[in-house]
Amino acid sequence: MSTKLFLYYIEFNYMEIERIIIVDFGSQYTHLLNRRIRECRVYSEIISLEELSATLDDINIKGIVLSGGPMSVYAPSSPKLPSEVLEKIVVRRLPILGICYGHQLISEIMGGTVEKRDVEEYGKAQLYIKNGRLLFEGIPRSISVWMSHSDSVTSPPPGFDVLAYTSSCPVAAMADFNKMIFTVQFHPEVVHTEYGRTMIENFVEKICKCRSLWTPQKHINSIIKSLSNLEGNAVAAASGGIDSAVSAYIAKLIFEDRLHIIFVDTGLLRDNEVQDTLSLLYEMGFKNIHFIDASKLFLTKLKGVKDPEEKRTIISKLFAEIFEKKIKEVSMQYGKVKYLIQGTLYTDRVESGITSSLSDKIKSHHNVVMPHIEGLEIIEPLKDLYKDEVRQLADELQLPSYIVEKHPFPGPGLAIRIIGDVTPEKLSILRKADKIVYEEIISSGLYSKVWQAFPVLLSIKSVGIKGDRRSYEYIIAIRIVDSVDAMTARFTKVDWDLLEKISGRIVNEVAGVNRVLYDITNKPPATIEFE
Ligand code: XMP
Repeated sequence: MSTKLFLYYIEFNYMEIERIIIVDFGSQYTHLLNRRIRECRVYSEIISLEELSATLDDINIKGIVLSGGPMSVYAPSSPKLPSEVLEKIVVRRLPILGICYGHQLISEIMGGTVEKRDVEEYGKAQLYIKNGRLLFEGIPRSISVWMSHSDSVTSPPPGFDVLAYTSSCPVAAMADFNKMIFTVQFHPEVVHTEYGRTMIENFVEKICKCRSLWTPQKHINSIIKSLSNLEGNAVAAASGGIDSAVSAYIAKLIFEDRLHIIFVDTGLLRDNEVQDTLSLLYEMGFKNIHFIDASKLFLTKLKGVKDPEEKRTIISKLFAEIFEKKIKEVSMQYGKVKYLIQGTLYTDRVESGITSSLSDKIKSHHNVVMPHIEGLEIIEPLKDLYKDEVRQLADELQLPSYIVEKHPFPGPGLAIRIIGDVTPEKLSILRKADKIVYEEIISSGLYSKVWQAFPVLLSIKSVGIKGDRRSYEYIIAIRIVDSVDAMTARFTKVDWDLLEKISGRIVNEVAGVNRVLYDITNKPPATIEFE
């Protein structure tokens, strides 16, 4: 096996897709903003300040949003927009929307006054609109908006008109109508801002003149078109989840019979998952399916390992080894494999710290398989999409409804839902509990309404009474969360009767468990998975 990493990522050609660029200054709302723009059916993407200058050469960029951020424009280390970059934007006549930090930044660069306030302002404020042209078109003169700032613009730069104010913020919105620069102190992307969606629509459609045509399906069509002349074979890993299924399906449209699906049973899958996944793959029309039962190998390697990161490393290393061996076999038998298809999503890249220098890496796990094969190129068709966009796409591609609605399941499988070491006994307990949770969530109608619902084996025991006898058995925690993209999540406020039913069935039907807990923690500070 080659020890060097020789991975090349195929860049897609998005030439015909017009887009809005969001420059990320580290706001907690940047992704929300991205999603709001995409909801207007206009493609948008988040870039770092360092990438901005080079990006401006792309003729498909129709507007720039400068996001909010936690810093003060006066802090020596705060990110600044270089004047030559601003000049380039203005020369290209690209409209700008500055939000919060972006508002203060524009004011500071262009000669306005930004003042530090003694008190930080968070929450709702009443906005009074003086000038409703363009950005505030179709919006009442007084609305409630969401503020989150400490610095304030107190006088606008030359050439700017004050568009709106609040009782504590004299320049809550301003614009230079000649240069098409619009900036706001508040956050239009947050639901608490009334008419926030209209403001974003106004920016995208009326100011940037985008045509509102983008859909995930169009995005994928453009990718398929740009990759249609690739030669050689491709491989994709199947996991039974929606991301790998949809990305493999897209690869099938490109490579047709030259696509090979590799499905590895790690022994860490749910009850019946192997059979269900194989049926799904056949139902989706894949032809070259290579199934490998490596369950014993994984369990042997995981024996006695307690540390979560160590477990993840062992699993992904072993997976990569098995995968690589299979790719070589496929190459020998069918001709050289040149491409590896991965179901990486936008959020996976965010949580792995790939998309922004200002965001923190949270867990190392979201980079899935990376076999080290010289010359193998990676194709990630879903890398710019959010999970709900992938579901929408799966629906549009008419994939089986079972996969469209399926909850996410982590690559390391049940191993990261067992705290501590993984044993066949614990796996068997967890699978039985998982089946019960699944059945009850389905029959209550909750399955399609929540992001994920699953049990976790805590590997600690507690005392109980079963059939008049003292028991000393494992504890299961139930995790059910609501989320849009897993970046944040809230624990679901489940009906007590349903929880009682789940708990009753688990302690009665699963030998080895005598106590069930419900996790009432949001993300952040917790993550969705326990490890
Ligand atoms: P966390 O636990 O980080 O999970 O809040 C966020 C979402 O990602 C899923 N997840 C994973 N998916 N490989 C994956 O493909 C992994 O190692 C992994 N770990 C977590 C998790 O189920 C949730 O939907």
